[in-house]
Amino acid sequence: MTLPETSETREAVRLTIDGAPVEVRPGATLLEACRQMGTDVPTLCYLETLTPVNVCRICVVEVERNRTLVPACSRIAEEGMVVKTDSDRVRHSRKMILEFLGSSVDLSAAEDEVGEWMRQYQAEPARYGPQSEPTVAGERDRRHPGHHGEVNGRTAEGVHQPTKVDNTLYVRDYSRCILCYKCVEACGIDAQGTYAIAVAGRGFDARISTEMDLPLGDGACVFCGNCIGVCPTGALMFRSEWELRRAELWDPDAQSVTRTVCSYCGVGCNLELHTQDNRIVKVTSPQDHDVTSGHLCIKGRFGYDYVQNLGDVDRSSIDEVLAKARRPAPE
Ligand code: SF4
Ligand code: SF4
Ligand code: FES
Repeated sequence: MTLPETSETREAVRLTIDGAPVEVRPGATLLEACRQMGTDVPTLCYLETLTPVNVCRICVVEVERNRTLVPACSRIAEEGMVVKTDSDRVRHSRKMILEFLGSSVDLSAAEDEVGEWMRQYQAEPARYGPQSEPTVAGERDRRHPGHHGEVNGRTAEGVHQPTKVDNTLYVRDYSRCILCYKCVEACGIDAQGTYAIAVAGRGFDARISTEMDLPLGDGACVFCGNCIGVCPTGALMFRSEWELRRAELWDPDAQSVTRTVCSYCGVGCNLELHTQDNRIVKVTSPQDHDVTSGHLCIKGRFGYDYVQNLGDVDRSSIDEVLAKARRPAPE
């Protein structure tokens, strides 16, 4: 009897990356192959726990006999492929992507690697000119495909707009959004199954939106915060973090992270409590935990007030700001 071929019985795939031979499991992506041999490939829209969507293109590599550069995060490795991860073409492409993002989006709260890649690829977003004036609240949400604003040729068109603060748990600052789709995937098919947010509009006017641009509390959102957990740029942020940043009291160097188990039910979700001045300032979940894969529900992520609302004798210096974060409208 011949057993059906499976990924275990099939032979490994052999390819060459930057001149070095490598063997990977059948079905592995070029990104996996690169990581296996310790080659660094930048990614923005890719996350191990989400389905690749191929939208940022920062991970492109050159494959011999392929006309275009290919996204390493989703291209499957094939026998005999010859891959270059650091050619002039690859470097140029990554530099352009970083410049386009940097000239139109506020990347100041993005993951640290983004700044490192800016330096590594010598990206100069400023050469596109100063950023255009921010739009007024809701203006970008009303745009229709084909309705482009006047281009003045002197400033770089941007996505800057007022932060959406419509609840006490988290804010949406789409001036920081690179449209990586991670939040849409985490809210929808890959984790939460709620589908409260999606991409609306086309081209430069494309943006993340609730249905009919409703405030979060009036739509389908269940405030699990899984979208915040995957956002790489700080566009989605705990209200507590946002208020502390505004008050210039957000201090990651003074924070510690304590791993614990959620106390609300028996599922066993792991929590990472980020504390500053002995106060919980936000809650995340470890991505490599097999119960949560980084995702939580509203109780685990936001339901921690009972821990620190005990009329403490020594009030922390950040208490006032944290209290402000629990009021419906920003002050
Ligand atoms: S908080 Fe949860 S339900 Fe609401 S938009 Fe984010 S992922 Fe979707
Ligand atoms: S809000 Fe964040 S996660 Fe969502 S598309 Fe924008 S950058 Fe990506
Ligand atoms: S990380 Fe590969 S396309 Fe975004």
